[in-house]
Amino acid sequence: MATTDNARLAPADGRLGVLIPGIGAVSTTFIAGVEAVKRGFGLPVGSLTQMGTIRLGKRTENRTPAIRDFVPLATLDHLVFGGWDIYEDNAYEAAANAKVLDASLLDKLKEPLSAIQPMKAVFDHEYVKRITGPNVKEGGSKMDKAEMLMQDIEGFRKRTDASRLVMIWCASTEVFHRPGAVHQTLRDFECGLQKNDPDIAPSQIYAYAALKSGVPFANGAPNLTTDMPALLELARERQLPVCGKDFKTGQTYMKTLLAPGFKARMLGLSGWFSTNILGNRDGEVLEDPGSFKSKEETKLSVLQQILQPDLYPDLYKDLYHAVRINYYPPRGDAKEGWDNIDIFGWLGYPMQIKIDFLCRDSILAAPLVLDLILFLDLAQRAGMRGIQEWLSFYFKAPMTAPGLYPEHDIFIQLMKLKNTLRWMRGEDLITHLGLEYYD
Ligand SMILES: NC(=O)c1ccc[n+]([C@@H]2O[C@H](COP(=O)([O-])OP(=O)(O)OC[C@H]3O[C@@H](n4cnc5c(N)ncnc54)[C@H](O)[C@@H]3O)[C@@H](O)[C@H]2O)c1
Repeated sequence: MATTDNARLAPADGRLGVLIPGIGAVSTTFIAGVEAVKRGFGLPVGSLTQMGTIRLGKRTENRTPAIRDFVPLATLDHLVFGGWDIYEDNAYEAAANAKVLDASLLDKLKEPLSAIQPMKAVFDHEYVKRITGPNVKEGGSKMDKAEMLMQDIEGFRKRTDASRLVMIWCASTEVFHRPGAVHQTLRDFECGLQKNDPDIAPSQIYAYAALKSGVPFANGAPNLTTDMPALLELARERQLPVCGKDFKTGQTYMKTLLAPGFKARMLGLSGWFSTNILGNRDGEVLEDPGSFKSKEETKLSVLQQILQPDLYPDLYKDLYHAVRINYYPPRGDAKEGWDNIDIFGWLGYPMQIKIDFLCRDSILAAPLVLDLILFLDLAQRAGMRGIQEWLSFYFKAPMTAPGLYPEHDIFIQLMKLKNTLRWMRGEDLITHLGLEYYD
């Protein structure tokens, strides 16, 4: 054990098993990317854990180590992968279908990717409407399904000889639902699993199985999942970290860059219209109004929280904000997102900004998956449990303690993340006050 001032960090010895519900575009781009980086075929661009540095002490000290040298993170060589999907395609076939990465690159990675065969999924058509697949667990109660998942987890742990595990949800977006009576306490939830309560979503069965098996859980989609009292109670009881929801990648990432800038200069906003076309399976699932509602909620909340219209009614009270997503097959994973932003300045004079972001969804999401896995594993080894607000940086709808509003400003989120790492290692937190330089 390396003893530090604030957290006792167990070393990252042995293999880290990564369990992923959803062997689709994001997860296969992530896994293929890790295998490619390991073989020197590309760089892990977009990953803070692999490419980022952290300033320590005063600016005059010139101490800026790489983050991965500053805190003990698992290395890419130590990652092993497994997952579940409703389709039987292995990770090579799923990556080929997703058409994110070039066939020539995938062919070079065929061996490790083909070895990842998805386990049978826990699936419920009421929660994801537009897709159907053969590779699902049949029969039994929701509790029986949770137990089957726990057996899968143990089987994977033994098969791979992993010393620690992390689970990250990269499966389709489930329909919008609010916490109900069954989500209030762990006891209610376990009764609900036994009685097949319709309010329990598949993602919650995976999260329950993970936490019961001592595995931290991250949620890359906007589903409710662990964002409710019963599973947070389980996470605290088992001393496990959790985080979510919904990877902050394309358009919302842009929003959290721009909106704090407008607010910093006290510029007003009267309208923000965002529309997207995408043609991957995620886009197909989001055609369903229930799944779109989950996305819309996380996408809309961002501006409200950043702009604080209650504090600045003259600037933001009348903002009209709309978000649209249309499924458009010709584009595949190469999403196009347009933003029309109506701002106003001195004496209320109007101006407009247009953004056309021709992005690649899974290319933006893959490094976030990697960072979340490595940081969640770090949090587990540091004995941190429950919601990991310091990982808000990665999410559109960051989970927070009840009664706290989430912090969406990406630069505050980054500062919080880095200060948490400094805190772990007993370094001074950086406040940017800096008066001492002028004494
Ligand atoms: N790519 C991004 O930039 C981004 C950003 C934020 C959130 N997300 C979310 O990440 C998730 C994955 O996105 P994607 O583009 O890889 O989608 P995808 O459709 O390519 O992959 C999702 C996979 O999940 C599988 N699946 C559905 N329900 C399942 C279940 N119950 N158990 C196991 N597997 C199940 C589907 O069969 C599919 O193969 C989506 O929820 C998406 O909204 C993606």
